[in-house]
Amino acid sequence: ARAWALVPAAGQGSRAGTGVQPKQYRRIAGHSLLEHTLHALVQVQALARVLVVVAPGDPLRAAHLPTSLPQRVTVQAVGGPTRAQSVRNGLAALQTLGAQAHDWVLVHDAARCLVTPALVERLIDRCRHDAVGGLLALPLADTLKQQRDAQPGSVDADARVAQTVSRQGKWLAQTPQMFRLGLLCEALAADLQDVTDEASAVERLGYHPLLVPSSAQNFKVTYPEDFALAEAILRARSE
Ligand code: CTP
Ligand code: MG
Repeated sequence: ARAWALVPAAGQGSRAGTGVQPKQYRRIAGHSLLEHTLHALVQVQALARVLVVVAPGDPLRAAHLPTSLPQRVTVQAVGGPTRAQSVRNGLAALQTLGAQAHDWVLVHDAARCLVTPALVERLIDRCRHDAVGGLLALPLADTLKQQRDAQPGSVDADARVAQTVSRQGKWLAQTPQMFRLGLLCEALAADLQDVTDEASAVERLGYHPLLVPSSAQNFKVTYPEDFALAEAILRARSE
């Protein structure tokens, strides 16, 4: 079975603040977030092709994509209104590129631009003989609090603790998340409400994905302050 990467890059970056929007096109350490992400993925020889899903009609896309894409990278403007829908559309595009049901697909956020080839290879090595697949994840380091009377949506200013939740056995999900194309298509064919990662959709079918220990450096650039931290890490690596 071959392995393919699918990179959802069709978001708005609404939490990332001002500057070039969407965030995946913002430049840090000389390149856009998306370029850093692609640079790491194309170094993984096991990946047959990297498919990037961008937003249809995104005016920034043309100006901010690398002028010469690495070989093995394909860009398709089939992004949807949510991440899960962008991934669903990307899976259909992978099939038109020749991906088969038993092939592996590694879904990786464009915004996780600090991923390294070694982390991706660790995930592949752990999952390639597994019946289900799995994801990079990080055992929770901080103490976890459950808010009293939490409402869905935004964080309220006078939130209070209801109780402390044990962090024992709790992990933070990252990407890439690696599953067979057929299983992903089945998992994402259902209602996508509350599906924030591929693993949760797979879990809904009754499977138990592998948790593969990752690094805290593989965080998702989300808030304005994340750019400076990501840039510092990238610069330190290239020294
Ligand atoms: N993404 C996507 N299609 C969407 C929404 C998100 O392809 N409709 C991608 C983003 O481009 C990003 C990844 O999914 O690479 C993770 O999503 P997130 O960090 O939430 O990015 P945004 O949705 O762009 O940011 P925000 O939620 O702050 O608007
Ligand atoms: Mg989002």
